Amino acid sequence: MRKYFFYLISIPLLMHCKPEKNGPGFKPGEAWPDDQGVHINAHGGGILYHDNTYFWYGEHKIEGSAGNKAQVGVHVYSSGNLYEWKDEGIALEVVKDDPNHDIAQGCILERPKVIYNEKTGKFVMWFHLELKDMGYDAARSGVAVSDSPLGPFNFVHSLRPNAGHWPVNAKDFHKSPVADTVKEKYCGGLGCLPAHVDTMNILGRDYEKGQMARDMNLFVDDDGIAYHLYSSEENSTLHISQLSEDYLTYSGKYARFFPNRYMEAPAIFKTSKGIYYFIGSDCTGWAPNAARSASANSIWGPWTELGNPCIGENAHLTFLSQSTYILPVKGKKDAFIYMGDRWTPKNPIDGKYVWLPIDIVNDRLEIRWKDEWDLTYFE
Ligand code: GAL
Repeated sequence: MRKYFFYLISIPLLMHCKPEKNGPGFKPGEAWPDDQGVHINAHGGGILYHDNTYFWYGEHKIEGSAGNKAQVGVHVYSSGNLYEWKDEGIALEVVKDDPNHDIAQGCILERPKVIYNEKTGKFVMWFHLELKDMGYDAARSGVAVSDSPLGPFNFVHSLRPNAGHWPVNAKDFHKSPVADTVKEKYCGGLGCLPAHVDTMNILGRDYEKGQMARDMNLFVDDDGIAYHLYSSEENSTLHISQLSEDYLTYSGKYARFFPNRYMEAPAIFKTSKGIYYFIGSDCTGWAPNAARSASANSIWGPWTELGNPCIGENAHLTFLSQSTYILPVKGKKDAFIYMGDRWTPKNPIDGKYVWLPIDIVNDRLEIRWKDEWDLTYFE
C-alpha cells in the first residue's frame, strides 16, 4: 500500500516539473550563468570564432562604482554552441605593481575585441584605453597579443591613431592652420562641441599627436584586411582605420564618417551580398539611447544612414542596451546576432546582456525584442 501511495504522489509531481522547453536558448536581459553558475562577466564584449569554438572577451567588472575602472582586466569565456559558456579566466591582466604603466590597475579599459592573424598565427586584442587618473582625456587605443585565444595576452603598446596622416577623405580646411578657438576638452555627452565639428578642426588639432579613439570595434574583411573603427574628434565623428598586416598598429590609411553625429558603440558586419552594415548608438554615457544603423557597398563608404533598426517597445532605448558587437553565426548564411550591454554603473558587475537576432529586410536592418529565442530562428 505504501508503495502505491508513493506512485500516486510522485507521478503528478514529475509531470508538473517537466521543463516546458527542450535545450538551451537566449534570454536577453536576464542573468546568464557560466559553467560555474556565476553571471558572465564580460561587458562591452566581442566574440572570436576559432577552431570550432567561440571565445567571448569582455571587461571584467567588480562590485560598486570602482568597477567602472579596470581593476582586474579582460575576461574570456569559451563555448561551442553560444548558449553555454565556460569561464576561462582573465585573458589580459591589468598591471598591479606599476601605477605608471599604460594599463595600470585603475585605468579605464573598455570594449576589448580579439582577432586572429592568419599570417602571424597570433591573437591580437585591441581596446579603448584611458590612462589612470586622467578621466576620459587620453582617448587611446591599447594593443595586446597572445599565442593562444585564452591568453595570457601581453601588452604591446598604446597609441593615438594615425599621427601625421590625413584621412583619405580629409577636406581642405583640415590642412589649414588650426584656429586658436579649438580648445582641448572632453564633454562626453551629446553635442559636446560648441559648434558643428566641420566648422572647427579637431582633426587638424590632433594631426601631429594622433587622433582620439574611444568607443571601438574591430572588423576583419574576407581578404584578411583588418579595420579599427572608433569614435574620434571628441566623439563627434567615426573613423575607420586600416590596420597594419600584423594587426598590431595602424597602416596610416583611414577615413572619417558621420561628422557631428556622435556615433558611439560602433560595430560592422558584412553580408553574403557584399553589403557592409553599421550599428551604433548615440552618445549619452551609460544611459541607453536610440540605436543607429547604416550601410555601404565599400568599407570606405559612402555610408548611408538607415535609422534605428529596433522595432517595438523600448526601441527608442535599444531595448535598454547599447551595442557592443555583431556576431556572425558560423555555418548559417547571413545569420547575425546583435550583442548589447545593459550598463549598471552603480554596480557594474550586475550588467546584463541583450542578444537578439538581426533581420535584413529590403537591405535594411530590423531588430525585435524576444523574451527567449534560440538559433533555430535562423532556419
Ligand atoms: C558610453 C560608452 C561606454 C563608456 C561610457 C562611459 O557612452 O559607450 O563604453 O565609455 O560611455 O560613460
